[in-house]
Amino acid sequence: MTTSTKFWDKIADKYSKQPIVDEESYQKKLTVTQEYFNPDMEVLEFGCGTGGTAIIHAPYVKHIRAIDISEKMIAIAQGKAENNNINNITFEQLTIEELKTANSTYDAVLGLSILHLLEDKETAIAKVYSILKPGGIFVTSTTCMGDFMGWFKLIGPIGKILGFFPLVRVFTGQDLIESLTNAGFSIDYQWQPSKDKAIFIVAKK
Ligand SMILES: C[S@@+](CC[C@H](N)C(=O)[O-])C[C@H]1O[C@@H](n2cnc3c(N)ncnc32)[C@H](O)[C@@H]1O
Repeated sequence: MTTSTKFWDKIADKYSKQPIVDEESYQKKLTVTQEYFNPDMEVLEFGCGTGGTAIIHAPYVKHIRAIDISEKMIAIAQGKAENNNINNITFEQLTIEELKTANSTYDAVLGLSILHLLEDKETAIAKVYSILKPGGIFVTSTTCMGDFMGWFKLIGPIGKILGFFPLVRVFTGQDLIESLTNAGFSIDYQWQPSKDKAIFIVAKK
């Protein structure tokens, strides 16, 4: 078990009970995402957490494969889906790094509040690009701390050693857009409620 897995398992219960921080922005992101969906779509969500977003989107697509590094997050997500009578989500404890899927499998991939938590976002973005069908979309919402709290680069690693934080990478919104376009994506939609909030992007293959 990695230190990241331990961190996310430890906070899973608390995470599932936390209210959405900015409900208005969350609703806007859901609406924009659903404008891209259709009932035939095969969707992957990585870093799905306790499954709240997958459960909301499930009625608009054919199937969602929702993966997360944390067994505890997945157990909570499965329970929530059952309570909501949602039958078209398959939850799996699996990292984006471990995921092995044939090229051109998915119509849409969701990576929400996750890219800044990965060791190597470039490799993950390249994988997302390869597993998307041509014309498929990658929906991301990413905190780009390099734009408003670059100093976190200094304290983040200490907080991680002490178990206060998971691994957090500090990069700017511009860095993220370059990573996406360098992988071959074109930016179809981009929105940020304010400079200190996550950047929401729909990138097209
Ligand atoms: C900040 S939470 C976001 C959860 C959810 N996407 C949301 O928006 O509420 C990050 C999630 O990513 C998961 N995670 C962290 N590293 C991961 C990895 N390498 N592969 C898959 N999931 C990972 C964590 O367990 C956690 O559930």
